[in-house]
Order: sequence, then C-alpha cells, then structure tokens
Amino acid sequence: MKRRILLLLILITALPLGAQTIDDRVDALLARMTLEEKIGQLLQFTPGREDLRERVAKTGIGCVFGMGTAADINEMQRIAVEKSRLKIPILFAHDVIHGNRTIFPIPLGIAATWDPPSAELSARIAAREASASGIRWTFSPMVDIARDPRWGRVAEGAGEDPVLGAAMAAAYVRGYQGKDISSPDSILACAKHFAAYGAAEAGRDYNTTDMSEKTLRGIYLPPFKSAVDAGVWTLMTAFNALNGVPATANRHLLVDILRNEWGFRGFVDSDYEAIDEMRNHGTAGTPEEAAIQAITAGVDMDMVDAVYDTLANAVKEGRLPESVIDTSARRILRAKFALGLFERPYGDERREKAEHLAPAHLDAARRIAQKSLVLLKNESSLLPLSKKIGTLALIGPLADSREDMLGSWRAHGKAEEAVSFLEGVRATAGAQTKIVVSDGAAIDDAVAKARTADVVLLVLGEKGDESGEANSRAFLDLPGNQQQLLEAVVATGKPVALIVMAGRPFTITWAAEKVPAILWTWFAGTQGGHAIADVVFGDVNPSGKLPITFPRSVGQIPIYYNHLPTGRPEDLTQRYTSRYIDSPNDPLYPFGHGLSYTTFEYTDLKASSGMQAVTVSANVRNSGKVAGEEVVQLYINDPVASTSRPVRELKGFRRVALAPGETKRVEFTIGRADLAFWHEGGWKFEPGMFRVWVGGLEGKFELK
Ligand code: GLC
Repeated sequence: MKRRILLLLILITALPLGAQTIDDRVDALLARMTLEEKIGQLLQFTPGREDLRERVAKTGIGCVFGMGTAADINEMQRIAVEKSRLKIPILFAHDVIHGNRTIFPIPLGIAATWDPPSAELSARIAAREASASGIRWTFSPMVDIARDPRWGRVAEGAGEDPVLGAAMAAAYVRGYQGKDISSPDSILACAKHFAAYGAAEAGRDYNTTDMSEKTLRGIYLPPFKSAVDAGVWTLMTAFNALNGVPATANRHLLVDILRNEWGFRGFVDSDYEAIDEMRNHGTAGTPEEAAIQAITAGVDMDMVDAVYDTLANAVKEGRLPESVIDTSARRILRAKFALGLFERPYGDERREKAEHLAPAHLDAARRIAQKSLVLLKNESSLLPLSKKIGTLALIGPLADSREDMLGSWRAHGKAEEAVSFLEGVRATAGAQTKIVVSDGAAIDDAVAKARTADVVLLVLGEKGDESGEANSRAFLDLPGNQQQLLEAVVATGKPVALIVMAGRPFTITWAAEKVPAILWTWFAGTQGGHAIADVVFGDVNPSGKLPITFPRSVGQIPIYYNHLPTGRPEDLTQRYTSRYIDSPNDPLYPFGHGLSYTTFEYTDLKASSGMQAVTVSANVRNSGKVAGEEVVQLYINDPVASTSRPVRELKGFRRVALAPGETKRVEFTIGRADLAFWHEGGWKFEPGMFRVWVGGLEGKFELK
C-alpha cells in the first residue's frame, strides 16, 4: 500500500505544475513534511517574538501578523523561502478592518451607509493596498451582531440586525477576496469572532455568552453563514464561552454547524492566545489539554500562545493521531497554494508606493464617509450651513483631531495623513468666514468664543481608541466634562450643531432635547474631515441610517428593534404592562433612523400574495428641494406562529437616489426562506398572513 502511495506521489510531483490540482500539490508537500514542520504551519506569531527568525528557518511558520511594509515582510519571507528546508512561504496577515493605509469609516459607520457596494469597495481597496505590501490575509470582516453599546467592539461590526449584518459580511468577503483568490491583489478574508461574542453579558468584553439555539441561529449566526456562502476562506474563533463551552473548542459551532452543516472548507484561526485561555475558562488543565481540545474541534491555527507546540509530544506519545495535525496543515497549505504564495511570496514595493493613499482610494474614502454620516436631528434646518456665514466657532476636544478621525484598528493608517474636522471646515467654508476654535478644555474660553460666533459647531464624543477591543463602558454619557461644556455653550443661546465622533451610541438625551442639530459621524477615516464638512455645508446631502439602536439610558440595555411583543406589550394607560416607571420603552433614536436635507414621501404600497414568494413594492418620491439618497427599508411581522415572533424584522433594504420631485418604484421579493425561523431543531417556514411595512406604509400579504 505504502509503495503505491509513494509511486502516486512521485507521479503527481512529476506532473507539470499546471496539471496538478491544489490538493495534489498539498498532498505531495505534506508527504515530505516532518511532524515539527507540519506543526510549524499551525503556528502564528507577531514579529516581536524573540525566536521567530530561528523558527522560520528551522521548521517554517504558518503565519506572521502585524508587519506592514513590503520591505519588512520581504526580509522575513526570504528566511522562509530561502533558508527553511521546504521553503514554504509565510502567510502574512494583519487586522485590516476598515482600510490598510487609506482608512475608511469604522465598520459601524460603513454599516450606517446601508450600502453593501460601499463595504465591498472599501474592502477591495484595502486588499489592493495590503497585498502590495505582502499582506495576503486580513482578520476581517468582524461580523458579530451587537445589541449592547457598552461593548466597545460594536464599533467593529455592522450593528444589531442579522439581515444588514449578513449583507455587509458577504460584501466584505467579495471585496477582500476578489473574483480570483490567486490574483496578486486578493487577500483571504476572515469572518470573526465565531461565535456570539457580541452577546457578552453586561456589555463587558470577553464576558460570558449564554443563549438559546433559536437566538444563536436567528440572530448571531446569519452573518457568518453569509460569509461562508460568499466563500470566506477563514474564520476566527471568539474569546467567549458560549453556553459554558469556550468558542475555541466548541464542537457544536466548529464541527456540527461550520463543517457539517455549512460545508466550510477553509481554515479556522484561534483568537489571540484564546486556546491557552481555556485554562482560565476551566475546561483545560494544561496547555496540551487545551491544544488537543482546540485542534480536535477544528481550530487549525494557534494565534501567538504556541500551545500547539505541545502537540508534537502528544502525537509521539499517542495522545493525538497525526492525522489530526495533517488535516489542519492541509487546510492551511491549501490556502497558501490557492493564493499563489509559492509562486509570488513577496510584497511589491513599487506597487505598494502606487497603491497606498492613491487619489482614487482617498476619493472613495471620502465618498463612503459622506454616506456613513447620520443626521439624527435638524430642527429648523440649521444644517446645512451657508458658506457665507460670518463667524463660525468650532469647539470641542475632537474638533481638530486627525488621530481620532481614524478610529480603532487603524492598521497602517497614519494620523498625519488624516484630515481633521477643522481642516475640512477650513477647506470648505467661504473665504470670508471667520473660524474661531477652542478645544473646550477651559469652558469659559469655549463660551467666550461661542459668544462671538453666528453658529457653533460643537465636536464631542470619545477618542478613536476608546472603542474597539477592551473598551467596555458602564456609562454612556458623553465622557469627561463634555456634558458641562455642551450645556454651557448651548446656554449662550447661539445656534449649536452637535457633531459627534464615536464608535458606539451614547445616551445623549439632554442634547436630543436641547440641541437643534445633531450629526453622528462615527470615526470617518482618513478623509473624514472633508466628508463631514461636505455634509455640514450642504455639498453632500446626508443619507446614513442607524445600524444600531440608540438607548435613552444604560438602564434600557439590551434594547433592540426586533424584540418580541411579550404578553403585556407596553401600554402607558395600563400599569401592569411591560414598561418602566421612570422611562419610556422606546429608544432615543431607533434602528434605521436618519434624516436628510430633503424629504421623501412613500405611496402606493402593494404586496402580492403567492405560493413561493411575494413581491412588495411602493413609490418613493423626493418631495423636497435638493437631490438626496433614501435607504428604503422593508420590515415584516409574523403575527401568529409556533413561537413568538419579533414585532418587526428587517427583510430588505435599498439605497435610492432621487432628484427633487423624482419618484421611483422600489420592489422587493420575499420568499419562504426569508420568513423561516429556527424552531425545534431546524428552519421552519409557516404559511400565513404577514404584516409588512415600507417607509411607514403598512400592508399585509399571505404566503402559502
Ligand atoms: C485581538 C482581536 C482580534 C484580532 C486579533 C489579532 O485580540 O480579538 O479581533 O484580529 O487579536 O490582532
């Protein structure tokens, strides 16, 4: 038998490259590898590791992440490709989450565009820039559904809804991986963090998650399934334990669902030291136990803690079959061959120079940032400002910050290459406009400057690195002295527009009542200052919509739009209903909210009933005086089903551009699969009557 395998392998390697399939090449290489070399491919380090170069030369290494220039990457790659025995190239990776050198709005901001093509374009550009440097794998998209803004990582995802999240997930995968993964400008995408990480109790990062299979399937998994269906090459496991089982060794997630149900063929990476952390979770007593649990559950690569080093002994001493190592090594080598890494292992310094911050990339960053901005309030049309305004006061700690404009996970973006809001205003306001500035640290100075102005732009929020990982908040008030600053400036009686930079919602209940205009800008990226100024001065009409609910208070959390009705829905005329005695139930600003400088009217909602699918359509008209884009949203409710169903569920959305007076008819098709829900171990569609809403118009349809 062995002779026949050997003969077959000799034949395969003798075949011309073109005739060999990737799997042929993997098998042929694997057959030549020692156990240590196979385990080397399962290891992933940052460049700071002391013995890294030695390990690369000795056994080869699967991945190095955190390097950012072609020069540095190529120096490290030469060790693997020229010095190691089998010359297996390193796969270089990085957290290219919302851009590589050209930084786009944070993902929650891109989600606020409700425009998957924008997400795809941002990922495509990020892939072009990163791959030029030799980075061929990104730890993105983060597709964790999040309903709790205390959790700082809401900034990295697409918000609270599974349909919006699924659409964004697939768009990012298409953007990063391109049409052909072997193309030099394609990079592997990574759907993370698998799974339910966003359900961390109390909004505290890394905390326990516990939920029904129904909630897992219906809310938290759809974006991952969408990424897998879009062909994502990798997933990353989450830090949390899900229902008591660490995600990093959760066979239900990694084997039953990911491999067996979804047919995923790529490879799974752990999160940073998450394998060894199973000892903290208390499900492994030793690093080797943790390693064996993780790899037998299907975690192919070990991020940084190198507990997979213990597997060599485990195999030699019969505690782990070598075939398990082979399976993981095969998955990783398959990805490296598919990328063309053996043929093109290096970054391209010339292309890197041409791609990074290319004018077309900056232009795309500005346009996407414009679409991400959400106008929450605009009383008496304070915005847009005239360019003939006399004196403008720009006040607040973020008014002139380039650094914070980049947000968290800024990859290789540089603050000095970003545009602050002040710089954007200077470039856009009229030549005769006098601009006075105060960082607001001294409130009396800020008030004095506000008094000299015709209008005040107050720029408040959190710093760019105060959201993202390990940035949980117990309070969602404006940080520091900002509320006092806000109230003091408003007390001058000057017209105030509040510009907020944040990676999450804040409970700005006072501002929502007292400030005439509020623009939510997230962290708008390298071109953020220009994009915000474009909207503030009306060169661009805002069109963003909230991808996450804004609570009135922390006490309302978790608060999300697709909640169940309960047996006693809120009724303010009745005491014994599901309500608070000290707050309304409804949020400060709901999911899907966002204003425009124009108005849109919806008429003539029609819903056809049918057997397999229904079509729902409506007219949307720009009834105002300026061109604008509207995000048409379709929601349904299943009033009677085997289980209680959400009061509303997003089932379709579409961005529509309309000139003043223009009308377009928007049509959606809703099929059985769209209406199915997880029940008794499977997806169930139940025929019947459904309520449907488009733009506030209500209708109903029957799907048999
Ligand atoms: C971090 C994050 C993960 C990131 C990884 C590598 O801990 O949880 O999202 O991709 O480590 O930086």
